[in-house]
Amino acid sequence: MASGLPILTTEFGTKRIEDKSLFFGGRTLSDVKFFDYREYPKKLNLGCGFDIKDGYLNIDFQDYHQPDLVADVTELKMLPNNYYEEIVAQDVLEHIEREKTESVLIRWGELLRVGGKLYLRVPSIIDLAELLKKNQDPMFHKELVQCLFGTQHYTGDYHYTGFTKPLIHYYLYLAGFQVLDIKNKDEWLFEVFAKKISSAVLPKKLVFSTENYNASPFIVYGVSFPEKGFSWTDGVESCIFGTSDFDQKSIKITISILATFEKQKIKVLCNDNEVYSGIMDKQSSITFTCKNIGHIEIKFLLPDALAPCDLSPSINADKRKLALAISEILFQ
Ligand SMILES: C[S@@+](CC[C@H](N)C(=O)[O-])C[C@H]1O[C@@H](n2cnc3c(N)ncnc32)[C@H](O)[C@@H]1O
Repeated sequence: MASGLPILTTEFGTKRIEDKSLFFGGRTLSDVKFFDYREYPKKLNLGCGFDIKDGYLNIDFQDYHQPDLVADVTELKMLPNNYYEEIVAQDVLEHIEREKTESVLIRWGELLRVGGKLYLRVPSIIDLAELLKKNQDPMFHKELVQCLFGTQHYTGDYHYTGFTKPLIHYYLYLAGFQVLDIKNKDEWLFEVFAKKISSAVLPKKLVFSTENYNASPFIVYGVSFPEKGFSWTDGVESCIFGTSDFDQKSIKITISILATFEKQKIKVLCNDNEVYSGIMDKQSSITFTCKNIGHIEIKFLLPDALAPCDLSPSINADKRKLALAISEILFQ
């Protein structure tokens, strides 16, 4: 695409104007055709930079990268919802203000059709910290600090945020995605592959302890990060929610508990019905049946949740109010 052509900015976004006569042929702004997405593929390369991909609509807000569309990827009002098959956003999300991460992913989710794929590449804060610890050479640290904060050569080239696996799961869950894979790249980046689902569909078994922590997209609140073989309910109320896609009218649910701090009073509600009330003190499981109404919401009420530091303040600084260590929830 030729450079140096005028740019048209409208409420629907910004478009490179190929035909100068549109501006100079005496036409008014309202005569000018807006961006016609139908002329481009159903795949988006957001914040494309110089990485212009064939078979994609390449979008960047910096004109000098010569994208197909000059636009802010946080808005994209000129593009249709539920239409795109794939979105690639490599090294982009960290260039957008931290407070917008959620709304931007929600917007990208709107653009994708159900089943559409999302490929993200973002910096991993923890891996960068590990690398910094490993080698004390200041030149190496200089490079890593650049990875953390961006090259800072131009507007849009600054990093405003960073990522961890739990954050990726959390943001993508909120935006209606299921995380299918998170890989490390070059020791400091995450490559994330996710699929748009209309809402979170529960797997047959939620496992709290795996590398991928596959329960996390279903945790609404009050469950801590995974530890070795379990996850703690954290606080006096915890909630897990997901859409159920089973055919049967009712679902048998078994919750396996590995441990508690002392004896814990517990009440479990499933879709607002009390399904268990009692006291737990160590390895145990509870089984109940609930009516399948298209979604499953499991709430744990734990009035006496204790922090490890309440039990032994001298040896334990853990202030989280933990009650039950859950290893898995099975749906049958
Ligand atoms: C580090 S580059 C990545 C380029 C490319 N994706 C790649 O993998 O090589 C980040 C790009 O995102 C663009 N960018 C940052 N914020 C943007 C925004 N809000 N809207 C559109 N583009 C943005 C920048 O102009 C830049 O080209």
